Amino acid sequence: MPRTPLIAANWKMNPAPEGAFAADSPYRPQSGIETMVFPTFFDLQPCLEAGLPTGAQYGHPDSVGAHTGDVSMTMIKKAGCPFVLCGHSERRRDHHEEDSDVVAQAEAALRNGLHPVICVGETESERRTKRHKQVVERQVRVLPLREVVTIAYEPVWAIGTGVTPTPEQAEDMHAFIRSLIPEARRESTRILYGGSLTAENALEFFQQPDIDGGLVGGASLKPAVFREIVLAAVQARS
Ligand code: PGA
Repeated sequence: MPRTPLIAANWKMNPAPEGAFAADSPYRPQSGIETMVFPTFFDLQPCLEAGLPTGAQYGHPDSVGAHTGDVSMTMIKKAGCPFVLCGHSERRRDHHEEDSDVVAQAEAALRNGLHPVICVGETESERRTKRHKQVVERQVRVLPLREVVTIAYEPVWAIGTGVTPTPEQAEDMHAFIRSLIPEARRESTRILYGGSLTAENALEFFQQPDIDGGLVGGASLKPAVFREIVLAAVQARS
């Protein structure tokens, strides 16, 4: 069963781009390509009302409780939002999220009927010292991979830097991640690439056999550029 490509927009702490809610919004699924947007909590509702496939950027594993500033997976689900990001490297960095926190989030997401998009990836020094596979294996092995999840491989050093691995290096890691997924779900689990994807480089990444789409940050804030990245996914499939 071929995997449907997914191009996800991570808007981070930015307002929804102009035109995102329009009928011809590039953030809507098109030509056999799935799309997804990850807005701030404030923009979740407008995105859902506009009919965009929408996810939260984070959810707390507990349903309710004394966690000032947090929103739970249960609340995200109740708001009608079907997807959630787990373990983005900026959360790991800014909020000291560890692998165990990311697993707790992914499990809570699944328990609440949300589809988690789970981020993994090594730092620059881990790649330089050739520990990148070891680190990613540690991050991946603990995940609930017998369930329906999406994985996003995002090398930390490629996020927002304009520097990327070569498509071959990314493919090598994607194939490695796939080999860690239990056989029953190995071929059906989507693995996205993220980190400085642009309209110029997207096609080369999407042409790799184990790269099933992208998690796009900076470039997703420009609707025209995001449209081109989606078109690259269309082209890669043809
Ligand atoms: P970037 O971010 O595309 O700006 O590198 C990707 C991400 O953080 O998901």
